[in-house]
Amino acid sequence: MPKLGVNIDHVATLREARKGLAPDPIEAALLCERAGCDSIVCHLREDRRHINDSDVKALRMKINTRLNLEMSIAREIVDIACKIGPDQATLVPERRQEITTEGGLDVVKYEKAIRGAVGRLQDRGIEVSLFINPARAQVEASYRTGARIVEFHTGEYANASTKAASKHEFGTLKRAAEYAIGLGIQVNAGHGLDYVNTKAVAKIKGMHELNIGHSIVSRAVFVGLSKAVKEMLELVR
Ligand code: PXP
Repeated sequence: MPKLGVNIDHVATLREARKGLAPDPIEAALLCERAGCDSIVCHLREDRRHINDSDVKALRMKINTRLNLEMSIAREIVDIACKIGPDQATLVPERRQEITTEGGLDVVKYEKAIRGAVGRLQDRGIEVSLFINPARAQVEASYRTGARIVEFHTGEYANASTKAASKHEFGTLKRAAEYAIGLGIQVNAGHGLDYVNTKAVAKIKGMHELNIGHSIVSRAVFVGLSKAVKEMLELVR
């Protein structure tokens, strides 16, 4: 049965709209945990547009499940992660201009730099996941870095505009998952997953965890965070 990690960045985005204290992403994380999620995900971006350093420290101290920190491989961010010590670090590509993480990490191209970051984090006892597109070459390069977890970027699948395209992207995702699992890699997935498209991904054999943010926080506006998380948990499980 796959696990559910809830990404709380969007709660912090709302807080930053007024640069105040509410809504508090830590309170949101605790509520998600009480609703039954398996981990809390947040992204400490280099520009600190939503989650900031104090949030990550507070999450580390207060949550009872696992803390999965999404982050770039920038030295400053790796230093912070090594200091705070999340349970898991998910390495993602980061561009200042993007609205959200628009694609997977190109591990084939940046293998050496990524291997360095993976090693530093693992030496500190942090599990490392690489956020990659569902492609064999990226899986193989990920394995070579020493990482034993990948998170497949489901954006292409989630954004497919026709049934045929969705089927094609799902097939790509499923084959990549089978290939990675065969190599002994733990497979997670996330990005753009919602109350319609999640169930199929959750059913992929061996899928370990789905990390979902925007759709849950959006639904929470209407039904409350606890119900939004519980509804998603039902789909995932
Ligand atoms: N996983 C990773 C690695 C991400 O970067 C994101 C987006 O922040 C998500 C999962 C969640 O994506 P969404 O907010 O679209 O559910």
